[in-house]
Amino acid sequence: MGGDLSPSLKALDARWGRPGAVRFTERYGGPVALLQAGGASIVIALQGAQVLSYVPANMSEVLWLSPVAKFGTGKAVRGGVPVCWPWFGPHPGDTTQPAHGFVRSAPWTVTGSAASQNRARLVLAFDASTNLQTGWPHRALAELEITLSDALTISLSTENRGSDDLEITQALHTYLAVGDIGGVTAEGFEGRPYLDQLAPGPMRNDAEPVRVTGEIDRIYQECEGPVFVTDEKSARRIRIAKTGSRSTVLWNPWVEKSARLGDMGKEGYRRMLCVEAANAGNDKVTLTPGERHRLTTELSVTVSKAKSKRND
Ligand code: BG6
Repeated sequence: MGGDLSPSLKALDARWGRPGAVRFTERYGGPVALLQAGGASIVIALQGAQVLSYVPANMSEVLWLSPVAKFGTGKAVRGGVPVCWPWFGPHPGDTTQPAHGFVRSAPWTVTGSAASQNRARLVLAFDASTNLQTGWPHRALAELEITLSDALTISLSTENRGSDDLEITQALHTYLAVGDIGGVTAEGFEGRPYLDQLAPGPMRNDAEPVRVTGEIDRIYQECEGPVFVTDEKSARRIRIAKTGSRSTVLWNPWVEKSARLGDMGKEGYRRMLCVEAANAGNDKVTLTPGERHRLTTELSVTVSKAKSKRND
């Protein structure tokens, strides 16, 4: 991202640093915040307000970051938790607009931090009311509150600052790291209707938990409860809970789409699964002037039974 970043890092540290809990440094060519709490740590890129790493206490990395991710000003980074806002997927009417909105590759501003025993927090904001480069004809504030404790909680608030109703779609596009996709089961989707983005048509649903054996791109509707990703190879289970969201996206590009994307890395698709807390598909959010909406996802990890037995 170029230039001498140290003075601004110093300024960030002076204003928002919290000893032992929140500090700022340069990583991946740009400024990042490092949060620590109770033995857990996260890395947040200020570009995109994108969480790039989450390591719970005594565990390995929970988020997948492509080994060939492209970093740099204005680049969408493949991995971590990109923030898709104020639209999810392609722009509803304008193909010249970027997929998943314009904030995932834009600089956010740090607006708050906090620390207490076993808890660290950072708040970032993107004011789309003043950001004229986006060409977006609305006025709204996006605020991302990231809290690290014995779980990772990410909360995306939207405030309509315009004088008309505002409709948005959005997602916290979480790339979960898995040992091998062949041993992954995603539970909590059973019986939920989904829009199959690979085969548009009437909604479908499955009675069984999901096993990923090829490209998958689904927007589950009426899917509010927590979902679970059990990963045999890593012997752990990730719980993804959420509020303010009735849709969950499940995505893995598999072989051919990975080749088209070009930044997944060799067999990267085997090491990830996206489970995205969303307002997408039929689950759109309409905000009246002054109204706020909050979409929250919470990730927590447990060692799965097979592993704890082996450790007994
Ligand atoms: C998922 C979408 O959320 O994101 C997919 O459901 C899309 O359709 C994927 O391909 C990745 O999008 P992008 O813009 O990061 O390549």
